[in-house]
Amino acid sequence: MTKPTHKKAPHLSSGKARTPHKAAPRRVHDAVPDAIIEMRGIIKRFSNAAGEFTVLKGVDLIINRGEFVSIVGKSGSGKSTLLNMITGIDHPSDGQVIVNHNDIYTGVSESARSKWRGKNLGIVFQFFQLLPMLTLLENVMLPMDYVDMYDFDERPQRAMELLKLVGLEQFANKLPVLVSTGQQQLAAIARAMACDPPLLIADEPTGNLDTRSADTIIQLFEHFVEQGKTVVMVTHDPSLTSRTHRNIILSDGELIDETISRSLPQLRHRHMLEFTKIAERRTYQPHETILSQDQRVDNFFMIRKGEVEVVLQKARSKETILSRLGADQFFGDIELLRGGKSIANVRAGNDEVEVLMLPRADFVRVMEESPITAEAVGKIVQKRLEEHRMADPRKTRR
Ligand SMILES: Nc1ncnc2c1ncn2[C@@H]1O[C@H](COP(=O)(O)OP(=O)(O)O)[C@@H](O)[C@H]1O
Ligand SMILES: [Mg+2]
Repeated sequence: MTKPTHKKAPHLSSGKARTPHKAAPRRVHDAVPDAIIEMRGIIKRFSNAAGEFTVLKGVDLIINRGEFVSIVGKSGSGKSTLLNMITGIDHPSDGQVIVNHNDIYTGVSESARSKWRGKNLGIVFQFFQLLPMLTLLENVMLPMDYVDMYDFDERPQRAMELLKLVGLEQFANKLPVLVSTGQQQLAAIARAMACDPPLLIADEPTGNLDTRSADTIIQLFEHFVEQGKTVVMVTHDPSLTSRTHRNIILSDGELIDETISRSLPQLRHRHMLEFTKIAERRTYQPHETILSQDQRVDNFFMIRKGEVEVVLQKARSKETILSRLGADQFFGDIELLRGGKSIANVRAGNDEVEVLMLPRADFVRVMEESPITAEAVGKIVQKRLEEHRMADPRKTRR
């Protein structure tokens, strides 16, 4: 295998010496400690004949080490572009990308980034991209040769172990065309893991496969995650997103707030995005009152963090805790849907509570536009009302 020997002479090409030649990605001192990916204000613009258009409109994202994350969004929403910002295949127009605590763009040359990528990331595409004239084993050895990792003599053995892991050892000496598409993708995954990267990035890895092959691939990803790797996968398949720790939705180049998508999963992406933009975030101290019984309710609340207690205050400081609600649950719904006052006190539990608040009018309007969501919320409202009735003896006898 030949290694690239051509090196660009410094300062001869463009005369722009603003960035140091071949600078490697540098450590960022204020990086989030647990994060393996940190995107700060990422903007990506493309130009075409019609002019300039913005595909990523200010993306802030943190993915922690060891997470299994899926990314979904309509075709053209910017998913592949987002992944290309993380892998360094393309570069942002603005903002900062920190992978493994390293700034991968500021002052980093293309060739240094490419070497860095070989050691730090595994990448899997929808259409495998194995080299057709090399055997599966040779394909898996390629990345080790490129970044010169592992002793030359060790490489075939290591590649064989990876093929074994993905169940392809008996096909090691076959050319890609001689195995099934599912097997080609498994070989591509073995190749992605060749240099033992902490992070695997996959763009619709099962998009071209039958459900059984897709399942094998997700199991393999789950195995990597169990070993402490981080896996980020773009997918269209809802049966796969349910198997990840976290699902991120991209809508027209913007990220949807995950509290909103988890609280109201039936909403259309455009409504989720609208809510993301208008929701106000607020923090309450332990035991602080959020809503008082008989107070008019003007907001729909979604819990981001902590736990709230829904409390029925009866005569003379006697109270009943009707329910405790935690992250991704909501309240204020009963009152908004029935147009009334709060039927109970809601207060923060023993820890600080963070909520997202939506104004009444916006909530009601979107519920009218999204009957499926209104129905799902309605069912929860109904269940709560029944719980309330059971907890309040005054209302049980009628
Ligand atoms: N290299 C490029 N040059 C110009 N436009 C691009 C380029 N890559 C992507 N786009 C445009 O950016 C938008 C988002 O593309 P993409 O990230 O591939 O979406 P997704 O992966 O969510 O389907 C699309 O409108 C696409 O045509
Ligand atoms: Mg794509």
